[in-house]
Amino acid sequence: MFTLAALVTLGAIISERSVALAAGCWRNTACTGPTSAAFPGAWDKYNYSPTSRTVSPESILSASGEFISDYTGPATLKLNGSQLIFDFGKEVAGIVTVSYGATGTGNLGLAFTEAKNWTGEWSDSSNGSFQPDGYLLASVTTTSEANYTMPDPRIRGGFRYLTLFSEAATEAFQINIQDITVEIAYQPSWSNLRAYQGYFSCSDDLLNRIWYSGAYTLQTNAIPPATGREFPILGGGWMNDQNLDLDSTGDTIYVDGSKRDRTVWPGDLGIAVPSILVSTGDWEGVANTLTVLYNDQQSSGELPFAGPGINIYGSDTYHMATLIGTYDYFLWTNDKTWLTTIYPKYKSAMEFITAKIDSTGMLSVTGTNDWGRLTQGGHNTEANMLLYKVLTSGSQIATWAGDSNSSSTWSSQAANLKAAVNANNYAASVGAFKDDDTDTTLYPEDANSMALVFGGALPQYVQSISQELTKNWISIGAVAPELPGNLVGFTQSFEIKAHMAARQATRGLELIRRAWGWYINNPYGTASTCIEGYLSDGSFGYRATTGYDNDYSYTSHAHGWGTGPTDALTSYIVGLTVTAPGGSQWSLSPQFGDLTHAEAGFTTPMGKFSASWSTIQGGYTVSWGAPGGTQGVLVLPASTMAPTLVVDGQSMALQQGAYNSTAQTVTISGASGSHTVNVTY
Ligand SMILES: *[C@@H]1O[C@H](CO)[C@@H](O)[C@H](O)[C@H]1NC(C)=O
Ligand SMILES: *[C@@H]1O[C@H](CO)[C@@H](O)[C@H](O)[C@H]1NC(C)=O
Ligand SMILES: *[C@@H]1O[C@H](CO)[C@@H](O)[C@H](O)[C@H]1NC(C)=O
Ligand SMILES: *[C@@H]1O[C@H](CO)[C@@H](O)[C@H](O)[C@H]1NC(C)=O
Ligand SMILES: *[C@@H]1O[C@H](CO)[C@@H](O)[C@H](O)[C@H]1NC(C)=O
Repeated sequence: MFTLAALVTLGAIISERSVALAAGCWRNTACTGPTSAAFPGAWDKYNYSPTSRTVSPESILSASGEFISDYTGPATLKLNGSQLIFDFGKEVAGIVTVSYGATGTGNLGLAFTEAKNWTGEWSDSSNGSFQPDGYLLASVTTTSEANYTMPDPRIRGGFRYLTLFSEAATEAFQINIQDITVEIAYQPSWSNLRAYQGYFSCSDDLLNRIWYSGAYTLQTNAIPPATGREFPILGGGWMNDQNLDLDSTGDTIYVDGSKRDRTVWPGDLGIAVPSILVSTGDWEGVANTLTVLYNDQQSSGELPFAGPGINIYGSDTYHMATLIGTYDYFLWTNDKTWLTTIYPKYKSAMEFITAKIDSTGMLSVTGTNDWGRLTQGGHNTEANMLLYKVLTSGSQIATWAGDSNSSSTWSSQAANLKAAVNANNYAASVGAFKDDDTDTTLYPEDANSMALVFGGALPQYVQSISQELTKNWISIGAVAPELPGNLVGFTQSFEIKAHMAARQATRGLELIRRAWGWYINNPYGTASTCIEGYLSDGSFGYRATTGYDNDYSYTSHAHGWGTGPTDALTSYIVGLTVTAPGGSQWSLSPQFGDLTHAEAGFTTPMGKFSASWSTIQGGYTVSWGAPGGTQGVLVLPASTMAPTLVVDGQSMALQQGAYNSTAQTVTISGASGSHTVNVTY
């Protein structure tokens, strides 16, 4: 979905996007995605996305999970109940076809799982009744060659392992597996699944793998709209044939997770959208998803807690997440046609939520559904930090939409709210925000992290909050006090950004390595995606005792809300981000942490933006590239003395006030085009 105005300025990018090869897209989907990577380079080796829309397994394992051979090796199922496990080596998703020959009569069984823990005759669970999903059965008779293709409604949204097994009806039953293929359904409008419009690379290989696992997770969440989960389903097993876009808005929709729920959950988009914008660059899918949520708006102005398929309301926090996603999308694309269409709905949604601001100046939450935290309601701090972001970003949107009255109303509500939440909800004796203005025991990860990411905390509280958050750390990440015993992709994603927003880069990187490093190196996981959440004992049973009915296999292993490192590494560590619609203004504010080099790039309708830094003896070098007609600001690390700057080989005199001795930074303006600055301190 591009505006006409954007189309004109898009020029080369758009024409490249429209000449895609039809063969590579899903079924009848028009190929509107990009056809080649915007920043090809050595980092492409980290990209998990397949080179073709048809993929096959990498290796064959025994029923007990031992390596037997690479694929294709001899693969024979004999008699009753013999099993082979086919390992794709990473998360895949789609329609499976098995080519086989057989003697005798019986069934071929197929079962699926993301984690290695649930290989076997029962798939991991996704259908919502917290029992294993079961399996598919194909009836088999003697043949030299036949193909079994699973029915479309039984499309499997995410798996790494496929278990094939035999059920004999006659003696001497045997199935010879000749070939297995998966027709990939995700990122349906892209003919080249690896054509990322952004990239990242740094001196730590683990972080590179994690950045690309976030990007890949988001691709597996970008699904054809008619393949959502049926919920509740009738009759057993699973069904993924729910249309999530009844108005035919577009060809791609972002769901929360690949296996499940395969439903649009706006809160999850709060992490997913910024990571999509800096990595794959699929603006079209983001716009479609937001439009679908606005199509579901109630006459009260309320936006859904979950989109079509589940269609429920009553969540103030998820209502606000759609408003923040609206800001992120417009800031990135300057899609004015879209904003014009959406603005009346946006404004009505703003009226719905600001009507809940009471005499304290704070939001009093009455729509208490939320991401999974145990409690919500009243003057909850997390919800108020979200509203602070909604009001500050809303004030900017209103300006861009030519509605200066709303802009000033929302900006003064933001200032009042910030003063009130800091006065009422901050526990000075602890150095962190309480859960609300009456609570005295809980200092939540979500609220304290959002306070730093959204700028809702007073400056004098920032360092203490970042420090306090580390008290919840264990070897495999940060436990969320608001969901005891759980480590949550969503809240950890906010927390890493929070430390970086506090300019505690080393701390943020350390949490990425502990949590995401643990998962991507886990021999039982997908080794390619970001998990929804897990337990402090290192098992995959996220929310096992608080909503998921002790079903450890229900956890989603490819969940967009766990992709925070992708945005964090680009926006805070390389430090490159957009600050005015479409990127007409941008900022570059690198943080080195314990790294020696980092670089990243992304694309907006104005063109390609990139930046790179390397530390050197006595200082560092920063380079950047930005499209013509844009203007940047560079906030460069310094020490206790003003540094020496050489820009494009010319020494540069610092302007009055450029050096900030408190923040230990120096601020200079960044021109469009390609430039380099050497900083010595
Ligand atoms: C099975 O599928 C393969 C790949 O599409 C095809 O080449 C082959 O002819 C099919 N075999 C039968 C018996 O339909
Ligand atoms: C095959 O094994 C299943 C259990 O896995 C059993 O229910 C069934 O009766 C067996 N069939 C034959 C023909 O032995
Ligand atoms: C989910 O699948 C299981 C296994 O087939 C089945 O027992 C259960 O009834 C299904 N759930 C629903 C809601 O249909
Ligand atoms: C400006 O906004 C306020 C508060 O939303 C409203 O009461 C007032 O009518 C608006 N004025 C105009 C000129 O739209
Ligand atoms: C998965 O299974 C392995 C082997 O049984 C076990 O060690 C591990 O704890 C399980 N992992 C999770 C996360 O459930």
